[in-house]
Amino acid sequence: MAKVHQFDVVVVGGGGAGLMAGLYASKTAKTAVISKMYPTRSHTGAAQGGIAAALGNSEGDNPAWHMYDTVKGSDYLGDQDAIEFMTSEAPQAVIELENMGLPFDRTPEGRISQRPFGGHTNNETGKPVRRAAHAADRTGHMILQTLYQQCLKNKVNFFDEYQVLDFIMVNGKAAGVVAVELSTGELHTIHAKAVIFATGGHGRIFEVTSNAYAYTGDGAAILFRKGIPLEDMEFFQFHPTGIYKLGILITEGVRGEGGVLINGKGERFMPKYAPTIKDLASRDVVSRAIYTEIKEGRGVDGKNYVYLDIRPETVNKFAAEDGRTNPDGSKFNLTAEQVLKKLPDIIDFCRVYLGVDPVTQMMPIQPTAHYTMGGIPTNKFGEVVIDDKNTVMPGLYAAGECACVSVHGGNRLGCNSLLDIVVFGKHAGLRAAEYVKTAEFEKLPENAESASRSEFDALRKGSGKENVFDLSNEMKKVMFAEVGIYRNEKDMQSALEKVRELKKRFKDVTVSDTGKIFNTELLNAWEFGNLLDIAEVVALSALNRKESRGGHSREDFPDRDDKNWLKHTLVWNKNGKLEIDYKPVVITKHQPKARVY
Ligand code: FUM
Repeated sequence: MAKVHQFDVVVVGGGGAGLMAGLYASKTAKTAVISKMYPTRSHTGAAQGGIAAALGNSEGDNPAWHMYDTVKGSDYLGDQDAIEFMTSEAPQAVIELENMGLPFDRTPEGRISQRPFGGHTNNETGKPVRRAAHAADRTGHMILQTLYQQCLKNKVNFFDEYQVLDFIMVNGKAAGVVAVELSTGELHTIHAKAVIFATGGHGRIFEVTSNAYAYTGDGAAILFRKGIPLEDMEFFQFHPTGIYKLGILITEGVRGEGGVLINGKGERFMPKYAPTIKDLASRDVVSRAIYTEIKEGRGVDGKNYVYLDIRPETVNKFAAEDGRTNPDGSKFNLTAEQVLKKLPDIIDFCRVYLGVDPVTQMMPIQPTAHYTMGGIPTNKFGEVVIDDKNTVMPGLYAAGECACVSVHGGNRLGCNSLLDIVVFGKHAGLRAAEYVKTAEFEKLPENAESASRSEFDALRKGSGKENVFDLSNEMKKVMFAEVGIYRNEKDMQSALEKVRELKKRFKDVTVSDTGKIFNTELLNAWEFGNLLDIAEVVALSALNRKESRGGHSREDFPDRDDKNWLKHTLVWNKNGKLEIDYKPVVITKHQPKARVY
C-alpha cells in the first residue's frame, strides 16, 4: 500500500512556474510542491538573458508594443487575448520579483537594467528596444532562488526528489497524483482537490538540445495517456546559438549586448535575412538563416557551425555601422570589462567546454532544440481545457513550458518564457486556491497507485534484448534530423514510423538495476517512455500541418497558409490511437500579415 497524504492543492514541478503557483496557492490553501529534483536545480535555472517587460527604464516602450511583437513573433498563431493579458501584467510581475529580493542588474540611475532581445522592437522604428530585465546572464537562476525562498517563508510543503507517475481523476475531476520517492522506491498517493502541472518541456526528444536531462515531458505525457489533448505540438523552437555539438545555451543576450553572427567566409550574414533588426530577428528566422548559411557551404571549415562574435572591437565596428548608441544618445562602446560583467556564465561555459575565450575569440555555435511552444491546453487562468470549445476540467491546472495558453503560438520571443512562468504560474495558483474553497475531496479509488506499480514492475522485470540508452539515441537522432529546423513529408513520415517502431521495441527492454534506492536506471526508462509518447505526437502534428509557420518550416509547403491553417492543432490519445482536431486562434487587435524584420 502506498502512503497517503492530503493537501488542498498539489503542484507537480518545482521550477519557476511550479514555485510561483505554489507560492500563490499557499497564501490561502494547504499546498504541496512535488519535484523530481531539488527545486533550485530545475531547468528554469538555465534561462540566461532576461525576463521581458515593457518597463521603459532606459528608452520609450509600452505593453502594447510588447503585445504586437509577441503576436508577430508567434507568426499570428498566439491567442491575442492571452498575449495582451501577459504583456500588460509584465511590468508589475517584474516589480513584484524585485520586491521579493531578486538582484536585477541596475542602470546608472538605479533602475532595473534592460537589454535588447530578439524580436522585441520599438514599434515606430522597427529597431530593437531594451525590454529584457536581467541579472547578468543568470536571470532564471535568480528567479528560482528568489521564489524558493518565498515558498519556504510561506510554509509551502516540499516533496523533493519524488517523481510523479500518475494523475488521479475521479468523476471527471482532479483528485490527486501518485509519486515514487526516489530515495526509497516507495509509492505515495497525494490526495488533493486541485492539481497543477508545471513539469516543463520535452527537448530531450532531440539529439542537440539546450534542455536539462530532466526535460522528458512527464506531465504532458501523463495527462495525454489519461485522455487530455495536447495542443500545437508541431511547434518546437530551435535557439540559434547553442555551443557546437553540445547544445548548451549561449544566451541571446550576447547579441543583445551587440554580438554578431559570422559565417565561415568571415561575413556578418544576418543583414541579408533581416535588414532592419539583423542579428536580433526572432529565433525561427535566425536559426533558419544559420542553417541556410551552413547548407550553402558557408559554415566554418565546411562543418555544421558558424561563429558568434562578442569581441569588443567587432561589436563596436558593427554598432557604428548600425548607428547604435547608448540610451542617452552617447557613443556605444563595449569594453572587455563589460563583457565579463554582463555575461559571466557564458564566458565560463566557453572557457570550460571549448577552451575558447569569448573576449578574444569567436564562439562556435549551431542551433539547438530549446523550447516547447505546444503542450497541455489551458486558458489564461491556467485551467486545463479539454476540447475545441475550451471546456475546463475541474481541479486541473497547468503552467509554464508544459502548458499551451497559447501565448507563444508558432514561435516564442526570447525572455517571454520567464514572463510566462511568473504570470501564468501565479494565476494557476490563484485559480486553484479559489477552486478548493468550495470543492470537496473526491473519494480516492481503491489502490490508486496500482497502475504505477504495474508500470514500474513491468520495466523492472523486463528481460528483453533492447537497451533504453540505444533506443533513446535512435529516437533523438531521427527527431533532430527529420523533424528539425526544416521539415518535409518524406522525412517526417519516416520519423513517425521510426518512433512507432521504437515504441514497440521499448516493450522489450531490460533494466539491469532491480533495486529500489535511487534507481535512476528505472526512472530513465520510465522517462524515455514519456519521450516516445511525446515524439509521436510531435511528428504526427508536424506531418499533418501542411504549411510553414514560426518554428514549423516545411520545404514542401514553404508559405504560411492562413486560409487553411490559422488554427490550433489538438491531438488526443483514444485507446492508443491518435486523433487530430482543431480549434480557432483568438484574434483581437492584430490581423495576420506578412512578417518582415
Ligand atoms: O537566450 C536566452 O537567454 C534564452 C532566453 C529564453 O529562452 O527566453
